[in-house]
Amino acid sequence: MFKAPRGTQDILPAEQPYWQLARDKIREVSSLYGFRRIDPPLFEETGLFVRGVGETTDIVEKEMYTFKDKGGESLTLLPEGTASFMRAYLEHGMQVLPQPVKLYSTLPLFRYERPQAGRFRQHYQFNAEAIGEAHPAVDAEIIALAWSLYSSLGLKGLKLQLNSIGDSRCRPGYNKLLTTYLREHQKRLAKTDRERLSRNPLRVLDSKESASQKVIAQAPKSVEHLCEDCAAHFAGLREYLGLMGISYTLNHRLVRGLDYYTRTVFEFWAAGIGAQNAVGGGGRYDGLAKLLGGKDTPGVGFGLGLERIILAMQQQKISPPPDPGPQVYLLYHGAAAQNEAIRLAEKLRGAGIRAGVSMGGRSLKAQMKQADREGVKFALILGEKEIEKSTVTAHIMQTGEEFTVAQGQLLNWLSDRLFRR
Ligand code: HAM
Repeated sequence: MFKAPRGTQDILPAEQPYWQLARDKIREVSSLYGFRRIDPPLFEETGLFVRGVGETTDIVEKEMYTFKDKGGESLTLLPEGTASFMRAYLEHGMQVLPQPVKLYSTLPLFRYERPQAGRFRQHYQFNAEAIGEAHPAVDAEIIALAWSLYSSLGLKGLKLQLNSIGDSRCRPGYNKLLTTYLREHQKRLAKTDRERLSRNPLRVLDSKESASQKVIAQAPKSVEHLCEDCAAHFAGLREYLGLMGISYTLNHRLVRGLDYYTRTVFEFWAAGIGAQNAVGGGGRYDGLAKLLGGKDTPGVGFGLGLERIILAMQQQKISPPPDPGPQVYLLYHGAAAQNEAIRLAEKLRGAGIRAGVSMGGRSLKAQMKQADREGVKFALILGEKEIEKSTVTAHIMQTGEEFTVAQGQLLNWLSDRLFRR
């Protein structure tokens, strides 16, 4: 027997109400904030991510689903969305539109990660990106959008973690300082962190290795080494967040796992969903457009993982509205009545009534049981007598009462009871 590939899952009908609610709220809240939907393709030239996300990141080094197509071109299934958004912005000349251009999407993303609770090889991510404006109020608006989405879903107790990691002017100096400090103490770092130190020193800061914690706690903080512009930007963002009533924790160890970030980085953490507790993360990426060969263009955005959001909803006992099932069920006795039931069901559906009909030629009793399991209000019974007189017997499931209704009157009879009460 085949099984879904490791790290992937079927989202079964019973789970769909959560997904439907999340998607509805994403659309609603994105439009409240003036974001418009974009759907990039699900694979891109591999170089887009190598350049955009960064060669020394886990994503590019270990996690991409890369393949050669039959024309010999190297393509990669989207491991993240931001590089695609920026590629689309540049490719379609969106610089001529009013800035920032505010785009969103919900995409399946693919990363060859070690699967565990809340970590998948295919996950869905809601991305919102504001491209073309560097003002810190845009960063605040992006964070407010994420907050609004979480609260519209009823999620409570999330913690916003915030940091600024500087830009191409101040980061190299900070990196040097950090590297010098970490080298001085490398004997007290875990082995994996000693390796990280030479390739990507910033990533040592968010290491989970217990051996490294003491050294990391004393490491120089990026916010204390920002250039004047970056410091002013960060102060501006904090002021706007205050204005909007959004509280946060300054987290000096938050650096994020993608190389394109400049200045603002943030994450949202949820309690009670296990080690993979980040239900969203993002930041500013003012250098990305240039890395991709475009004109210097600032941008800021986030990605929120839907599986983790739904885990948090379930953990907090938030229940979405259930899927609407059928309202009526057609039951028949005999071949002629079966044809009539199929015809009538189509007619009812055409009038907006959710109608089910049992297809396998089961006994009337079995059909009634099926209607009961579907939770319908009415069973509409057709037998020889009904066919002859062009009627149906309407059986009210809750009370067992029965009415004879002329087929010509059925729509009115049902509408009265289904929609006007
Ligand atoms: P990221 O932190 O890699 O950022 O992913 C964003 C969110 O997607 C995470 O906080 C988490 O909720 C979810 N997520 C990521 N990987 C997985 C996984 N393997 N399984 C389940 N959920 C996952 C980005 O991807 C950036 N592109 C976000 C961004 C947009 N930054 C600026 N704009």
